[in-house]
Amino acid sequence: VSRVRTHHLQQAKDNGQRFAMLTAYEQYTAEIFDEAGIEVLLVGDSASNNVYGNETSLPVTVDELIPLCRAVSRSAKRALVVVDLPFGSYEVSPAQAIETSVRFMKEAGAHAVKMEGGAFYADYVRAMVQAGIPVMAHIGFTPQSEHSLGGYRVQGRGEDAQRVVDDAVALEAAGAFAVLMEMVPAQAAAEVDKALRVPTIGIGAGASTTGQVLVWQDMAGLRGGKLAKFVKQYADIRATLSDAAKAYADDVRSGSFPGQEHSF
Ligand code: KIV
Ligand code: NA
Repeated sequence: VSRVRTHHLQQAKDNGQRFAMLTAYEQYTAEIFDEAGIEVLLVGDSASNNVYGNETSLPVTVDELIPLCRAVSRSAKRALVVVDLPFGSYEVSPAQAIETSVRFMKEAGAHAVKMEGGAFYADYVRAMVQAGIPVMAHIGFTPQSEHSLGGYRVQGRGEDAQRVVDDAVALEAAGAFAVLMEMVPAQAAAEVDKALRVPTIGIGAGASTTGQVLVWQDMAGLRGGKLAKFVKQYADIRATLSDAAKAYADDVRSGSFPGQEHSF
């Protein structure tokens, strides 16, 4: 199987096709999703709250994401592996963004990076692309800015729709190979997709984007608690694992595991 590359995502948009993206943070899910034909695997900074046990994506560090990204890039034979630049690892300057991206590509096998932020970051994207780093932009609701945005809120409602379009256009002009939109009204996201040549990816952004992305623990039902409106749950892995753990513990306590067939 040949590697999915950024030009294949462009081809998808040019041909009116869609592609799927999921987060992955370690070996087995990377393998499973890769073999299932998911085109893009994202080592998201959502590892902060889906792997490391934090409340938000803010605390996770480059040093914490590197081993996860390495595991995913070693395990994915076909998917394009994209990693998030975590909060605090790029904002200071284009040079800082390049240094962090280079670490992910050299030390962890990332094929591309994703960076949160609007038109302000166009100069950063331009410098990164010049350095040979493929950049996926992330606009709309950007979780790293939750404290300045005033919580988890849809972005680009009403008159704000134009700002989302302007951000996307500026980031495309700077060389981003794709623009991801989070929690943007479907109508605004459709306008962005129409305004851009490059593919768009949505999460809570309606059905008009070229690709869709979900956090895998939400998609497969590993995470407990209330799900966001934009999530569709395709499995109940949490219940499956819980049942398995309880059955194992019952067998151990009753003495029925291990059996003779498990013994030497
Ligand atoms: O970190 C993440 O998982 C993400 C996606 C949900 C877009 O950025
Ligand atoms: Na993220």
